Amino acid sequence: MSKQTDNFYNKFSVFYPLVDIFLKPQKRKLFEEINNLPFGQLLEIGVGNGRHFQFYKTHMVIGIDTSSKMLEIAEKRKSKNIKLELMNAESLLFQDQTFDYIILSHVIAVVDNPEKALEESYRVLKPNGKIFILNHFTPNNWIRHLDHSILFFSKKLHFKSVFNIENFNAIKKFTLLNEICFGKFSYFKLLIYAKP
Ligand SMILES: C[S@@+](CC[C@H](N)C(=O)[O-])C[C@H]1O[C@@H](n2cnc3c(N)ncnc32)[C@H](O)[C@@H]1O
Repeated sequence: MSKQTDNFYNKFSVFYPLVDIFLKPQKRKLFEEINNLPFGQLLEIGVGNGRHFQFYKTHMVIGIDTSSKMLEIAEKRKSKNIKLELMNAESLLFQDQTFDYIILSHVIAVVDNPEKALEESYRVLKPNGKIFILNHFTPNNWIRHLDHSILFFSKKLHFKSVFNIENFNAIKKFTLLNEICFGKFSYFKLLIYAKP
């Protein structure tokens, strides 16, 4: 990831709880899905401030992030089943086929190179493993114009307002299992894929 994104999230870590309030309903659904799965090794990419750690009920979790400040806050919130590491989604320091589950919650449109992050996720996921991608996705309706109009500002805020996951080759290697939509315009979605 770029040093600028890293610096941005280091500074933003203090204000992130405000964003969290808005994301709460989506995360509730995400963890409902996650906690219904059999016990497994779970990798959370771009774990952030760890405010959601209380929702992890079942799995052994490794959380990674490139922001040392985010991890510092998350460290105070973690429980016994959670380990945290400073690591880049685009070059994961894990062996192939290590994890049963991977979560990317509002991260895939933040990383510099989503293609690389998806490739790496595929590599470290076990066959039949599942990946959960929670994010905004640019729809094929009038909202896409909004996404395009704020593209310049979104870059300043270190995310990609225009985001089409189907444009990435690595996602085609996964099988889409479920698409859970949030809100009236289904702008936010939880996509659940499996590695064949
Ligand atoms: C919008 S926050 C999301 C935090 C949390 N996942 C959530 O849903 O609230 C994005 C997080 O991704 C982290 N991040 C950005 N690029 C990354 C990368 N290449 N590898 C790992 N983490 C990254 C940022 O530092 C930040 O903590």
